[in-house]
Amino acid sequence: MGKLRLEVVVQLLILLAHSQNLLTGEMLQEDDDGQAVLPASSTVHLQRHNQHVVMSNGIVNVTLTAPGGLVTSITYKGSENLLQTQNKEDNRGYWDVVWTKPGGHDIMDKLLGTRYKVIRRNRDHTEISFTTTWTVGSARVPLNVDKRYVMLRDSPGFYSYAVLERLKGWPAFDIQEARIVFKLEENRFQYMAMSDERQRVMPMSVDRYTGQVLDYPEAVLLTRPTNPELKGEVDDKYLYSCDNKNNKVHGWVSNDHVGFWMITPSNEFRTGGPFKQDLTSHVGPTLLSMFISTHYAGEDLALKFQSEEYWKKVFGPVYIYLNSDASSKTNPSILWNDAKQRMQMEEGSWPYNFPLSEDFLKSNQRGAARGQLLVHDWYKNKKALPGASSYVGLAPPGAVGSWQLENRGYQFWTQTDQEGNFLIKNVIPGTYSLFAWVPGTIGDYKHRSDITISPGSIVELRNVVFEAPRKGATLWEIGVPDRTAAEFFIPNPDPKFKIHQYERPIERFRQYGLWTGYTDHYPHTDLVYTVGQSDYEKDWFFAHVTRNLGDRQFQATTWQILFNLTKVTKGANYTLQIALASANQAELQVRVNDQKSLPHFTTRLIGRDNALARHGIHGLYHLYSIDITGSRLINGTNTIFLTQARSQGPFREVMYDYIRLEGPST
Ligand SMILES: *[C@@H]1O[C@H](CO)[C@@H](O)[C@H](O)[C@H]1NC(C)=O
Ligand SMILES: *[C@@H]1O[C@H](CO)[C@@H](O)[C@H](O)[C@H]1NC(C)=O
Ligand SMILES: *[C@@H]1O[C@H](CO)[C@@H](O)[C@H](O)[C@H]1NC(C)=O
Ligand SMILES: *[C@@H]1O[C@H](CO)[C@@H](O)[C@H](O)[C@H]1NC(C)=O
Repeated sequence: MGKLRLEVVVQLLILLAHSQNLLTGEMLQEDDDGQAVLPASSTVHLQRHNQHVVMSNGIVNVTLTAPGGLVTSITYKGSENLLQTQNKEDNRGYWDVVWTKPGGHDIMDKLLGTRYKVIRRNRDHTEISFTTTWTVGSARVPLNVDKRYVMLRDSPGFYSYAVLERLKGWPAFDIQEARIVFKLEENRFQYMAMSDERQRVMPMSVDRYTGQVLDYPEAVLLTRPTNPELKGEVDDKYLYSCDNKNNKVHGWVSNDHVGFWMITPSNEFRTGGPFKQDLTSHVGPTLLSMFISTHYAGEDLALKFQSEEYWKKVFGPVYIYLNSDASSKTNPSILWNDAKQRMQMEEGSWPYNFPLSEDFLKSNQRGAARGQLLVHDWYKNKKALPGASSYVGLAPPGAVGSWQLENRGYQFWTQTDQEGNFLIKNVIPGTYSLFAWVPGTIGDYKHRSDITISPGSIVELRNVVFEAPRKGATLWEIGVPDRTAAEFFIPNPDPKFKIHQYERPIERFRQYGLWTGYTDHYPHTDLVYTVGQSDYEKDWFFAHVTRNLGDRQFQATTWQILFNLTKVTKGANYTLQIALASANQAELQVRVNDQKSLPHFTTRLIGRDNALARHGIHGLYHLYSIDITGSRLINGTNTIFLTQARSQGPFREVMYDYIRLEGPST
């Protein structure tokens, strides 16, 4: 059949369809290869123009470059393009990775497709694919890429996911970052919401250019902001970070009451587990869903491939959700609340049943594990007790606590109920370690045997008993074991930085510049904490930082813990448990009763989580159990000296989670 005749047939079909439509009021059902395009309200349509393809469902239209797969336009209910039209087409909506060759510099690759393919096209469900295959010698990131976009009937938004693959034998390289990004029309979108507390009118991009760069390029003092009310505030994208476990929905509300939201319905494809922190939305206006990053963790979280490694992983789908409400004229939180509800709905339908890549496993291809977590801390109770509200997860096999640094596979986490019961659902088949940690208890749990999950089955786990790290009775303790430094003293920021007045109070640590507070509070001598007299909420600074001497000179600091002992047993071992919530290019040295001695213990150089500079209250977790023989202790007043010995700059720090001295080991 010639091309002309084919077109005639298509025209006929359209005519037929119209007449049928008129007669019956029914819409024409298109099949997978259907060519007829009918204007019908919320059914899905796909149109190919020269360099672009448009998916629409009567609510949302999405325009992408073909075969590149860049999103160039998103319209909602007949609106103008919601993306930043001043930006070039490759800087509006895109996937990217930041990668490096060994010893090389960062390269951003926007994962441009070289082939465009319609995977399914019908009025209920349209899925399109933009792929590229890496070839030896190519300058691009050595990955095979399949970017997918999905639109469903009646759905006010669209989904996107990507399958990334590298083959064995391809060059070694690292991935620092992988994400999907949208940049919105700034004249419309100025209100940002990423939690019930952190939602506000944001500064404009230009305000960052007219402002004054502070201690690092991301932090800018707004000196001449467009909105004069923001004058004196600091803008920094890290002010809007959160733990992955909470990073489910965030976005923007336009001044004509359209909400544009990034919904990430699962954490399974993110790296580093539920406590890994990452960015959400920030000035741009920019929305991100981060899949791989070194934020709040450091280089350890970068994916480092050796030449021999095969790897394939599905990221997403994420849902780009749009909403509107005339009554949100006065209160953009209405759209935020609606987006939260939608997020719960999306979370409830995970794993989605519609993605057509066979690499995305559906519910019936997945398995589950369940059990009851018990915690045994003999000092608190003879018997093991239920580990209530604990975090339990399956992650690729590794050492105790290795999930924090795990970045190749999938992780599946849940929280136990009050009885310690857990059910980990929707697990991709494979072999995992079972990990857990318990708020109020130091350390990490790992089940003694690896766990194999197969499709459609539930593994019943027995003997899930966490032997809490402990060698002796508690003599004293500082803080609460919860992997953060949030319970300690957090100063006010320098008065030269104006605190943004949110409608609801935000956590105190989310302010720029708190590191300077230490030298202000301890101008002459370092912190001294007296057990039994001091109060850690007031007398324990949240971060063990360097002392600022001025002129870019910084000095190591030594904190002291004073405590009385009676009846010290010379031959016994005492144990100092130190749990760190963060470490950044730091070295913590411990001395006992003699500040001049060689360190009794040192962590050596640890950490690159940069949590202090990024307004975090934790980065990666470390636990040290340090033996102190009784002969080093005295009957009477003892002193433990904690020195953060690396003093090059303001951001060298450790944050303590919790410290405990235990009596003779039993
Ligand atoms: C969206 O797409 C439909 C075709 O499916 C078209 O009729 C409509 O004009 C488009 N709307 C906008 C705002 O581009
Ligand atoms: C230790 O006990 C002595 C005598 O009771 C008391 O004077 C001193 O303040 C105590 N020191 C500490 C660190 O509690
Ligand atoms: C502390 O005093 C007890 C007696 O109360 C004694 O048995 C012990 O040897 C003393 N310990 C040290 C380290 O002096
Ligand atoms: C005390 O700890 C040290 C170092 O960990 C160890 O070598 C020693 O055997 C322990 N002593 C006792 C009595 O447990």
